[in-house]
Amino acid sequence: MFAVHALVRVDCTRFVALPTLYATFPSASRLALKAAAYSRVTIFASTCGRANVSKRIAIIQGHPDASGSHFCNALADAYAAGARGEGHEVRMLDVARMDFPLLRTQEEFRNQAPCEAIRDAQETIRWADHLLFCYPLWHGTLPALLKGFLEQTFREGFAMRVDSFGHGSKQLLKGKSARVVVTMGMPTLMYRLYFGAHGLKSLERSILTFSGIGPIRESLIGRVDARSTESRGRWLIRMQNLGRQAR
Ligand SMILES: Cc1cc2nc3c(=O)[nH]c(=O)nc-3n(C[C@H](O)[C@H](O)[C@H](O)COP(=O)(O)O)c2cc1C
Repeated sequence: MFAVHALVRVDCTRFVALPTLYATFPSASRLALKAAAYSRVTIFASTCGRANVSKRIAIIQGHPDASGSHFCNALADAYAAGARGEGHEVRMLDVARMDFPLLRTQEEFRNQAPCEAIRDAQETIRWADHLLFCYPLWHGTLPALLKGFLEQTFREGFAMRVDSFGHGSKQLLKGKSARVVVTMGMPTLMYRLYFGAHGLKSLERSILTFSGIGPIRESLIGRVDARSTESRGRWLIRMQNLGRQAR
C-alpha cells in the first residue's frame, strides 16, 4: 500500500510540475526529471522489485552545438531519466563534444583504424541493446557533424561486412533496436508527405537497417520553434515514458 501511494505521489509531482518548471528553468527541469526518476526507483526497488528486463541503452545526441541547451538535449535527458528510473543502463554519446576527423576515402573506411573517440563510440554501440538517436533536421536531413560521425563509426568490419566482390553484405549489428527523434521547423506532415522524409529514410535504410538494426521507431517533433512550453513539456513526459519502456 505504501509503495502504491509513494509511486502515485512521485508521478503526480513530476507530471504536474514538469511543463511549468521547464518554462522557467530548462536546466533545473532536467535535474528534477533525474531526481524524480531516481526517487521512484528507490521506493519501487525496495518494495516490489523490478518489473521489466533491464536493457542497455546508448543515446547518440546529434545536435552539433555542444552547449547542451537545446530541446534535443532536454528530450534525450528526459528519455535517459525515464530509462534509469526503471533500472535500464544508459550511456550517452554527445557527438558535438567528440574529436574526430571526416572520412575522406573508401580506403580509410575499409582499412584505417578509427581514432580513439570513434573506437569508444563503437564500443558503446556494440554494448547497447537499444539506440536512441536525437537530432535537429537540417536541410531535410542529419546535421553534417552527425553524418560525419556515422560515416566514421558505422565502418565496414564494425557495422557490416561486404564480400570481396562488393556484392552481398553481412549485417553485424543485428539484435539491436532503435528510436530516431528528430526536431524540425516545419510540420511533420509536410516533411513526410511533401518531402517524403528523405533524410530520415536515408538514415534508417542506408545506415541502420543496412547494419541489421531493427525495429526502428520514430518520434518526429514538428514546428518546434513555435511550440508552447506546455507542448514541449508534454513531449518531455512522452520521452520519459518511452525511456522507461526502453523503446
Ligand atoms: C542549418 C539549418 C537548417 C535547417 N533546415 C531545416 C529543414 O530543412 N527543415 C526544417 O523543418 N527545419 C530546418 N531547420 C530548423 C531546425 O530543424 C529547428 O530549428 C531545430 O529542430 C530546432 O532545434 P534546436 O533549437 O534544438 O536547434 C534548420 C535549421 C538550421 C540551423
